[in-house]
Amino acid sequence: MGLSRDLVQTREFFTSRAVGWEDRHPDDDVLFDWAVSHLRLCSGDVAIDAGCGSGRALVPLRAAVGPQGAVLGIDATPAMLREAARLGRQSISVCAIGDVGRLPVRDGCAAGILAAGLLPHLPDPVGALRELARTTRPGARLGVFHPVGRLALAARHKQRDAHAHDMNIDPDRIEPLLAEGGWELEFLDDADDHYLALAVRDG
Ligand SMILES: C[S@@+](CC[C@H](N)C(=O)[O-])C[C@H]1O[C@@H](n2cnc3c(N)ncnc32)[C@H](O)[C@@H]1O
Repeated sequence: MGLSRDLVQTREFFTSRAVGWEDRHPDDDVLFDWAVSHLRLCSGDVAIDAGCGSGRALVPLRAAVGPQGAVLGIDATPAMLREAARLGRQSISVCAIGDVGRLPVRDGCAAGILAAGLLPHLPDPVGALRELARTTRPGARLGVFHPVGRLALAARHKQRDAHAHDMNIDPDRIEPLLAEGGWELEFLDDADDHYLALAVRDG
């Protein structure tokens, strides 16, 4: 895949952090379960984990769609997908290298998408949100999720000198961004220790 400068920087940042990614925040599973439950997935559905990283969300997504469903994890950083493989996540999902701005998925097939920790790393969030909308059927849900509060996340990015666009998830900005991308905000839970913008696909 042809890589933009942003994506090269993103890869560099996450490559050095991939091994042991989940060990740094071992208690986040409960929050991931909670976020996935808001997608209201059913047995047999197709679910996507956009920017899946080590694939922590793939576990509750697979539980939600059951053995008849399909779960796809997409990430731009090969080292993150190697970590997902090391953790056995490829036995419960299809994990593929790719850019969420150009998903290898046909139109209208997904019933729900989780984008955990992703939006601050997107220089063109509207383009990516449109692409996510393209892959989903009308009424599908998208969870823009962080298992950490928005302000704590921004402080973490600053401390680590991350190339992040933290304003993408500002409370004033998220609703218009989602709307431009083809999503209607259902609710925003902007708590001290987590963030979830739950949206429904227009149309
Ligand atoms: C903060 S990590 C979150 C990983 C995982 N979702 C989690 O919550 O543990 C952000 C992930 O998004 C991926 N990413 C960033 N930009 C991307 C893009 N344009 N397309 C696909 N993945 C991307 C990074 O490689 C990284 O694995």
